[in-house]
Amino acid sequence: MTEKELIRTALEARKNAYTPYSHWAVGAALEAADGTVYRGCNIENASYTPTNCAERTAFFTAVCDGQRKFRRIAVAGGKEGQDPVRFQDSAPCGVCRQVMMEFCDPETFEIIMAVSPEEYKVFTLKELLPVGFGPSSRELLFIFPDTL
Ligand code: THU
Repeated sequence: MTEKELIRTALEARKNAYTPYSHWAVGAALEAADGTVYRGCNIENASYTPTNCAERTAFFTAVCDGQRKFRRIAVAGGKEGQDPVRFQDSAPCGVCRQVMMEFCDPETFEIIMAVSPEEYKVFTLKELLPVGFGPSSRELLFIFPDTL
């Protein structure tokens, strides 16, 4: 799938966002290493904190399908009922960045912050989460437990 197709898929998923509280709709399209694309949208809740972001919906769906390696994700966010306006509005939240850190190589995994298939910016996970804590950090904790 091309970058533009991945963005179109994120925009399609965005149409299913369940956002009766924030009225902020986000869609995501996550490309696994084998090329399979998983969609995600944000799903809110009357109790607020159970809300799931679009990016995590896509990741958890993919992991449930047996995927563990990923290439890139396109994200498109903006006011419900309107088209996205600024690429910054598609920036993944800190919790989603941490979930990406669990399954992705920060040097190569790409986050496409999209306004439209024509207007977007691409960042690596390392740019969005420098010095992130991930599975390899934990391996060091097991090898050198005395250093804690
Ligand atoms: N949201 C996402 O889906 N992804 C992000 O990374 C940022 C925030 C959602 C959560 C909530 O439903 C709404 O946007 C407003 O914060």
